[in-house]
Amino acid sequence: MKCIIRGGRHFVIGQVDKRIFGSFLEQFGRAVYGGVYEPGHVNADGEGMRRDVIDLVRELDVPVVRFPGGNYVSNFNWEDSIGPKNERPTRLDLAWRATDPNQFGLDEFMRWTRKVGCEPMMVVNLGTRGIAEARDLVEYCNHPGGSTLSDRRRSNGAEEPYGITMWGLGNEMDGPWQVGHKTAHEYGRLASEVGKAIKLFDPKLELIACGSSNSEMDTFPEWEETVLEHTYEVVDYLSLHMYFRNDEDDLATYLASSKRMDAFIDTVISVCDYVKAKKRSKKTMYLCFDEWNVWFHSNEQDKTLEPWTVGPHLLEDVYTFEDALVVACLLNSLLRHADRVKIACLAQLVNTIAPIMTEDGGPAWRQTIYWPFYYASRYGRGEVLDIRLEVGTYENATYGEVEWVDGLIVHHKEERELVLFAVNRHPDTEITLTLDLSGFEGEQIEHITLECDDMKATNTKEHPDRVAPQQRSGTGLALSPLSWNMVRFALKE
Ligand code: AHR
Repeated sequence: MKCIIRGGRHFVIGQVDKRIFGSFLEQFGRAVYGGVYEPGHVNADGEGMRRDVIDLVRELDVPVVRFPGGNYVSNFNWEDSIGPKNERPTRLDLAWRATDPNQFGLDEFMRWTRKVGCEPMMVVNLGTRGIAEARDLVEYCNHPGGSTLSDRRRSNGAEEPYGITMWGLGNEMDGPWQVGHKTAHEYGRLASEVGKAIKLFDPKLELIACGSSNSEMDTFPEWEETVLEHTYEVVDYLSLHMYFRNDEDDLATYLASSKRMDAFIDTVISVCDYVKAKKRSKKTMYLCFDEWNVWFHSNEQDKTLEPWTVGPHLLEDVYTFEDALVVACLLNSLLRHADRVKIACLAQLVNTIAPIMTEDGGPAWRQTIYWPFYYASRYGRGEVLDIRLEVGTYENATYGEVEWVDGLIVHHKEERELVLFAVNRHPDTEITLTLDLSGFEGEQIEHITLECDDMKATNTKEHPDRVAPQQRSGTGLALSPLSWNMVRFALKE
């Protein structure tokens, strides 16, 4: 089978904001305790942070990490997580029905971000709390000194202000499961006043309002419209969340998941632009897809967990090879919307629905989904080209016509490179690509693939490299059946 990709140097969707390769560290499960933080572990540094995990996060080159939640944040008192560790209260996390000893708090997180080389995205609690607590948190984090809270930060060891620029205004406030769930009007009013207070402190700070928890919510997309009616002029981004699953074991439908992500993003853009028009605003609302991933493998196991423990084995999805193909297609979807999606967070980073797994007291390893994320994050930076794919399709009951190839090209001007990311969804046919891109001349320098004869193959502690990238030799542009591919071309210019 053949696939022709048509496009050209002057047909560009947009510049990739590197922050779309962000991730998410929620204070629950073993994301923190036994994940990034495990005092006494042979690889722990002087602060109890696991160096093996730090190395893997650095390798992923994650530019942004969202913290501390998630559902967790809606019942979180940030003040509980600062100061001498032996004086911090132990609290119940109502969202995940666990116990939190607050040993890895705000200041530890900030020091950890410096170690992994990422920017923090701080989410404020708009479930049980409001304007005053958000105001205090911003003062603690970002004011240089000379006020009670900024001086408390200094006495806690951080002389310099943290300069956190990205602030999330609550989490999934449309969800009935959320502690402090609100109607769109209630949330919109609160978010606009919290946002106003934060911008009075510093108008350069960037604010993210909560969009819907997913496109199946009964309130979607009225939620977006109402929230933006209240917040359009004060916030900079609207959030999107979406998780994907294959519990029906229907590969053809599962591999088309990026269609669902595309449709969700397109609808949210339409709502943003509708509100923009209604308000006669000149401002464009950008999107922050701050939770996305595959999530379903751990559902049954999670029902058996004991409540109120510290660091339970929660949401520990063990990802398969087919999950890696889906994650690759979802990354393509984010990149295809590079003109509007400026920040995104793979949910999550370590142990809980995560590309990195650890064993308490044991090693850390890369899950299957680590690989497409790693290559997109490393090489998917530049301008996304506006291409057309001429390729056959299959008919799918959920998504209609689905192309056999999900493909995307990024032009990296500084490196003088074109980078192609493509997934062949065909179960048994190799697909040969032809590029018809005007204004580019170059040669293929590298073709990396992810292929596996078992769609359910996983990476485990015993077999951490069962699903791992391989160099494909030769210069032909052929995509094996059911494979992920990254092809780099050096440009003559
Ligand atoms: O990422 C896991 C959970 O999914 C988050 O806490 C919540 O925001 C979402 O429902």
